[in-house]
Amino acid sequence: MKGNVIMTSQTLREARKYEEAFGKLIKEEERPDFHLSPRTGWMNDPNGFCYYKGKYHMFYQYYPYESKWGPMHWGHAVSNDLLHWEYLPAALAPDETYDRDGCFSGSAVELPDGRQLLMYTGVVKEHQKHDIYREVQTQCIAVGDGIDYEKYTQNPVLDEKDLPEGGSRFDFRDPKMWRRADGTYACVIGNRPEDGSGQILLYTSGDGFHWDFQSVLVSNHNRFGKMWECPDIFELDGKCVLLASPQDMLPEGFEYHNGNGTLCLLGEFDEETGTFHEIHNQSIDYGIDFYAPQTVLTPDGRRVMIGWMQNWDSCSIRPPEAPWLGQMSLPRELSIKNGRLYQKPIRELDGMRRNKVDYNDVTVSGIVRLDGVAGRIVDLELTVRPFDLQNPYQKFAIRFAQNDRYYTALSFRPRESILKVDRKFSGSRRAIIHQRRSLVNTTDGELKLRIILDRFSVEVFVNDGEQVLSATMYTKQEAEGISFFADGTANIDVVKYDLAAD
Ligand code: FRU
Repeated sequence: MKGNVIMTSQTLREARKYEEAFGKLIKEEERPDFHLSPRTGWMNDPNGFCYYKGKYHMFYQYYPYESKWGPMHWGHAVSNDLLHWEYLPAALAPDETYDRDGCFSGSAVELPDGRQLLMYTGVVKEHQKHDIYREVQTQCIAVGDGIDYEKYTQNPVLDEKDLPEGGSRFDFRDPKMWRRADGTYACVIGNRPEDGSGQILLYTSGDGFHWDFQSVLVSNHNRFGKMWECPDIFELDGKCVLLASPQDMLPEGFEYHNGNGTLCLLGEFDEETGTFHEIHNQSIDYGIDFYAPQTVLTPDGRRVMIGWMQNWDSCSIRPPEAPWLGQMSLPRELSIKNGRLYQKPIRELDGMRRNKVDYNDVTVSGIVRLDGVAGRIVDLELTVRPFDLQNPYQKFAIRFAQNDRYYTALSFRPRESILKVDRKFSGSRRAIIHQRRSLVNTTDGELKLRIILDRFSVEVFVNDGEQVLSATMYTKQEAEGISFFADGTANIDVVKYDLAAD
């Protein structure tokens, strides 16, 4: 730092120039309205999600130059309400010997002197033999003022010397830091032990710059997939919540699905001994596209989570010529109810509701359309129940983003209690996963849904937040119809709002 001026590297300056020039070529209506998307190019995980100097900050895994994954930068945006976002210049670029192949995921805290401390994973490709390279991962620090950041001269601050025995230096990433009540710092980091599965390591620090290994907080023992990425840990309603995103999952009934998944452990955390005792496990999201969430504590004490609304195996759903790929989920307020994690759309979303349309006790048999119920930026509350309890409907469906060619559907079969999201007819031309089924709770065939649409996505909050299903869809925007269908006879209540960003 020269005086108060932070010197930026050529690589970062180029990225900033590029995003400034090309970001504005993307028209507003070509992006989600209130979900954060990359300024230009590619976005994955939320990083450094925090409240700093009166604003929420969201950084993100970012490759500005193409709409596909590349050497990772950190993009940056700020918001007052987590729904209206303003882009700031990219914060980090891979420009040092210890991070030249990528600045991977990490987190942010505020230092006592008011500066912001970022910790991220620095990646360097190491030649093995023949044409094989492996990524060595270390933890690095940058300090800044909320716009410009200077990398710490002593980087990396954690490397292979700080790993427990058998911990892999090739899978050691995604530090999530927090400030403890006594002013010291702690952080959790994903790692791969000798058994090839995942573990979460706990580190502590007196000043945020010098870190020590404390313990293996949780071991996967090959229970939930393999390597665990992007951990987060926090207290909620008297319990400790540990979030992680395991790779290479196998399905378990309807709870976990194949591939990259999400995992929520509820338990007890003993800070003294650095141990976690698990009481309950569940998926975080039961849809197709949700990964690597991070949380923030709002100034009024709410724990709010945002995830990357995408799945690594479904990235090809968007054509490569599209100017951006990747978007964040809706901010979700978390709570614990009945021993489970509950999620609700952040309450600030209610302030964007316009043009209420209300229908009560509509009988649906076959296809029904309702006047005023259409659109792609929509908040829709729906309760469905059998018309005749003795003779319940077989199947109920709501179709949206619909025209004569395309639609995405949510369907519910009360006998099986299965809710399915299906985007097979959304216009996708790729042979990827288009459906996901989830087991939901229903009493007497009644189900309550809140469905949020924002141009390229649907998020379904089931039974007041007991479960959430998220999926992206890149259907042409003119497909904005919404219709209801029942095989048998169902009764529905519908409350629909447009959502407006002004
Ligand atoms: C998760 C992840 C992280 C890593 C980042 C790289 O989606 O693989 O583990 O830090 O993405 O972009």
